[in-house]
Amino acid sequence: MPVAVVVGLQWGDEGKGKVIDFLTEKADIVARYQGGHNAGHTIYHKGKKFILHLIPSGVFHSEKMGVIGNGVVVDPAALKEEICMLEEAGISIEDNLLLSDRANVILPYHCLSDQAGESAGGQQKIGTTGRGIGPSYADKMARLGVRVCDFYDKEGLIKKVRSICEEKKVIFESLYEGEFPDTDLLIDELRSHREMILKYAGDSHVFLRGQMAQGKNILCEGAQGALLDVDHGTYPFVTSSNATAGGSCTGLAIPPTSIDRVVGVLKAYITRVGEGPFPTELFLGEGEELRAKGREFGATTGRPRRCGWFDAVLAKYAISLNGTDSLNLTKIDVLDSFDTIRVCTSYKYQGEILNEVPSSSGLLEKCEPLYSEFPGWKTKTSGMNRIDQLPNNARRYLDALEEMLGIGFMTISTGPEPNQTIRKGELF
Ligand code: GDP
Ligand code: IMO
Ligand code: MG
Repeated sequence: MPVAVVVGLQWGDEGKGKVIDFLTEKADIVARYQGGHNAGHTIYHKGKKFILHLIPSGVFHSEKMGVIGNGVVVDPAALKEEICMLEEAGISIEDNLLLSDRANVILPYHCLSDQAGESAGGQQKIGTTGRGIGPSYADKMARLGVRVCDFYDKEGLIKKVRSICEEKKVIFESLYEGEFPDTDLLIDELRSHREMILKYAGDSHVFLRGQMAQGKNILCEGAQGALLDVDHGTYPFVTSSNATAGGSCTGLAIPPTSIDRVVGVLKAYITRVGEGPFPTELFLGEGEELRAKGREFGATTGRPRRCGWFDAVLAKYAISLNGTDSLNLTKIDVLDSFDTIRVCTSYKYQGEILNEVPSSSGLLEKCEPLYSEFPGWKTKTSGMNRIDQLPNNARRYLDALEEMLGIGFMTISTGPEPNQTIRKGELF
């Protein structure tokens, strides 16, 4: 009963969607374990680009099952929109999506609080996606959340939402200038989503336990990345969930003893969206070139992504946090035109060399990156799908990364489409 967790090892947008779609051929089920529609996972299917926010990235394999786990926060309107988008493209999920009935629901006031919090003067700006992720996880922990299973009891749901809204309205209107949404309208909206929610809702733990007992292969899909993890990332510039592999145990009720593999995804350079420390960040020139060549604009918000050189200090930290045992490197084709490629191997802080990631974001902000340099290959690698096609300098760069990170690459990605992938190892 192999279970593998696929996890981003940077600040998100590593290409998890592409890698998961590629690896799904070996899976029976793809199950998302955390985050919400802040995620944007891009997949090319039959030449057409799709961006998934909530639906697991195995959806283009019609015979496979998708699970949205209890650890995910679900905005019903966003889910409906995504299902419609897929159906319009001829991809039906009618019989192969299960929504955990223990998942928490994002309500309109979560988005308003998220956006109001970001624009309020006193609070630290994180640069969130504004999707209500933080406030809905905060309510979950405060035990003030509405869950999918609350939709089973129509009258009970209305009563619960009314009572929560009474309290929320007072807090919201005293903190921010905006108006709290009308509770009746909010309830009408929830009613309009009830049929869809009930169609997909179920006990995902019981389902997954049954599938594991039958020896089915399960891929657990992480959103965001280890450096955005609420405990281990560059706090407070993080998301509000555990994006690291451990999140799959709580977010899907998969016991730790059932996980066989942890598969990491890394970009051949690094990006982040929003605020926060970024030691290898590049600005004009090379930074612009990476952004343009890598089309580094947010899949969810369209914001330009900040770009920088590969940071092996952060990558080793993320590998160790997750117990990563195989790696997928994406976007090496984006480096095709560079004369020199740099990799950060340690930091300098107040005259001292650091080989570990400091816990404080303020301190990380002040770290100066120390680099190793590699000659570029100045040849088009885009679309290559065999390792022996790669130019020598690209092979040297990859060998050096493998040596630095202490793990081999299972796949190397040379373009956004599934066939633009070099396979070096097998998932199961
Ligand atoms: P995710 O959030 O980790 O799934 O990543 P995103 O989808 O947000 O961002 C990754 C972007 O890179 C998407 O536009 C992908 O289509 C694209 N992509 C993935 N792998 C490759 C690759 O090897 N080369 C290039 N050029 N683009 C890639
Ligand atoms: P995928 O799954 C990149 C970032 C936001 C912001 C911080 C907090 O596509 O890799 P939030 O809305 O979650 O409260 O925002 O986290 N962020 C992401 N950055 N990829 C993502 O997801 C992200 N999801 C959230 O930009 O800095
Ligand atoms: Mg993304």
